Amino acid sequence: MALIIDGKALALEIRRSLKARVLAHVQKGGKPPRLDVVLVGEDPASQTYVRAKERACKRCGIWSNTHRLPADITRRDLLAQVDRLNKDPEVNGFLVQLPLPEHLDPEEVVAAIAPQKDVDAFHPENLGRLFRGAPRFVPCTPAGIVHMLDSLAIPLQGMHAVVIGRSLIVGKPLSLLLLERHMTVTICHSRTKNLPAVAQTGDVLIAAVGRAGLVRGDWVKPGAIVIDVGTNMTAAATLTGDVAFDEAAKVASHITPVPGGVGPLTVAMLLVNVCKGALGDSA
Ligand code: GUN
Repeated sequence: MALIIDGKALALEIRRSLKARVLAHVQKGGKPPRLDVVLVGEDPASQTYVRAKERACKRCGIWSNTHRLPADITRRDLLAQVDRLNKDPEVNGFLVQLPLPEHLDPEEVVAAIAPQKDVDAFHPENLGRLFRGAPRFVPCTPAGIVHMLDSLAIPLQGMHAVVIGRSLIVGKPLSLLLLERHMTVTICHSRTKNLPAVAQTGDVLIAAVGRAGLVRGDWVKPGAIVIDVGTNMTAAATLTGDVAFDEAAKVASHITPVPGGVGPLTVAMLLVNVCKGALGDSA
């Protein structure tokens, strides 16, 4: 039976260390770091994620300020809001929660964010830096996954990582980070032939596709580390991952649960980026 990687505990550790740094900064007369979030419309999942970000900020002494904007906001007004946050010296970092309503172009909005304040690391300049291996901010979910792998104290160099999913938020940036760790990386997607057989070659298998229970027990190489990035809502309104947990846990050496795995670390890494912007590079 696999060991369960406790994302909640790892996130708590990160928040504790950030809280101490924020406190020391404030005691020296500095202002607490501040994260602003722009939330357009009333998408229920986005509302939940934004509340989690607000709560996490509070827990470690970071100010948070959410701008809740109507779903029918014009492109011009949204870009004006982004511009105000770019120019506001009180704001250390901010993000525009995605997805946006249909009439707004997320690429245009993300590109309008000042790269120095882009704590999601979605801006093309920040993606370019990541590609070069010299990131300013590391995208939060991939950073959380690498932190999880590091916490196992298993040398990653030379191991084979199979990443299922090629999104700009998880699959692509994560693959680059794993490459930087000298792993051999295979990126799979919906058109990959013999996906179960390819998955089974992974010493580390990462599922980030958004399909509940896609990865079955017989996709997992015996002794592999399995990271489940899926956050799928079931008909019963519970959260479930991309991995059939019970089956995979019988084969893997380590596995992340959903919920309580990658999710909490994603939020913790956002706070790391906010503090990096506010307190300097050692965050
Ligand atoms: N929607 C789902 N995940 C994210 C994220 O990490 N950042 C933003 N801005 N929107 C999201």
